[in-house]
Amino acid sequence: MRGGDARTSGLAPGSAAPGADDGPVRAAGSDALSSDALETPAPSRGILDPGLVGTEDERETVLRPQRLSEFLGQERIKENLSVFIRAARERGEPLDHVFLLGPPGLGKTTLAGIVSRELGVDFKVTSAPALEKPKDLAGILTTVSERTVFFIDEIHRLKPAIEEMLYIAMEDYELDWIIGQGPSARTVRIPLPPFTLVGATTKAGMVSSPLVSRFGISLRFGFYEPREIILILNRSASILGVELSTGAAELLAASSRGTPRVANRLLRRMRDFAQVFGEGRVTEDVVREGLERLEVDRYGLERHDREILRSVIEKYGGGPVGAETLAISVGESVETLEDYCEPYLIQAGFLQRTPRGRVAAPLAYEHLGYRTGHADERLLF
Ligand SMILES: Nc1ncnc2c1ncn2[C@@H]1O[C@H](COP(=O)(O)OP(=O)(O)OP(=O)(O)O)[C@@H](O)[C@H]1O
Ligand SMILES: [Mg+2]
Repeated sequence: MRGGDARTSGLAPGSAAPGADDGPVRAAGSDALSSDALETPAPSRGILDPGLVGTEDERETVLRPQRLSEFLGQERIKENLSVFIRAARERGEPLDHVFLLGPPGLGKTTLAGIVSRELGVDFKVTSAPALEKPKDLAGILTTVSERTVFFIDEIHRLKPAIEEMLYIAMEDYELDWIIGQGPSARTVRIPLPPFTLVGATTKAGMVSSPLVSRFGISLRFGFYEPREIILILNRSASILGVELSTGAAELLAASSRGTPRVANRLLRRMRDFAQVFGEGRVTEDVVREGLERLEVDRYGLERHDREILRSVIEKYGGGPVGAETLAISVGESVETLEDYCEPYLIQAGFLQRTPRGRVAAPLAYEHLGYRTGHADERLLF
């Protein structure tokens, strides 16, 4: 499939990180060092899909915070991390290995890059699917220098042989390497400079516990509060040079699913609407009209989310319905449903995950105009 080397970019501190951008890449034909490194085939979803990263997003690395002070929200994570970074710097030691977990688009890749810049060290980027063979990992590890931050995205997708190799590298800063073949084969241990591994995943449950236990710092991202999204929107608007009114920012924040990537994408679309239909300023009216055109409602749900909820309510009597059945009924893969659609629907209180399956919450009935618990009796407005 892919060679680890070609997909790995050693990036100088402070440089934008083309290979570091984002998760699944949808647009084909992007340049060689694009986010392909971190690519998984992305299903087709709408504008709010935080896992969807188009070419436009890649070019918009301009919006990606470079320093911890520009990384808005997630105060708890930032406070702790800045202590650990400072302590490591003062001791001249590598930062302990960092595990980043949370739904797509919340800033895991961004934070990994920031860590390297704050430490003033090299940044190397790859993703687990790009590491096909042990030699792919060895190829990267043998190029790390003292205290390098080595970022592996989608770390839940490591192959077992590579994971084993990583254990030793993380714990002992050594590489087990087999020389020769057959009876004459022997293992040599190659010393590595002490480095920091930053591993990111959207699927905490799929990372093996031996791997998790080797990370000294574990940071879990939650969805952002609307007030944090407003800060991010204002920062992005000023970088993009677009005027964003307070009311417009509030409306946009409510529809951004607590996700910076979604907020930035919506902002760019509103900028388009403002430019073509308005006077260039993103006002409340522009946002209202724009969101309607995009079929995004005030909770940030788009048509597809509403279809999922409707399906649970109408076809399965409100649930419980198994994830697989539900995925088929809305023409989605279970993975996409679980990774991209459900986290926000659950967090926002539309859907509940129970041992017996998914259940529509009262808010789903209310929002879609059903009388609670009565799928067949739609309220007439
Ligand atoms: N705290 C933040 N402050 C400002 N902007 C942010 C913040 N977090 C993320 N962003 C913006 O959101 C975009 C998406 O963030 P990022 O690519 O780091 O998410 P991710 O968690 O790595 O997603 P994925 O799981 O899909 O890889 C970034 O390009 C950045 O512009
Ligand atoms: Mg990422």
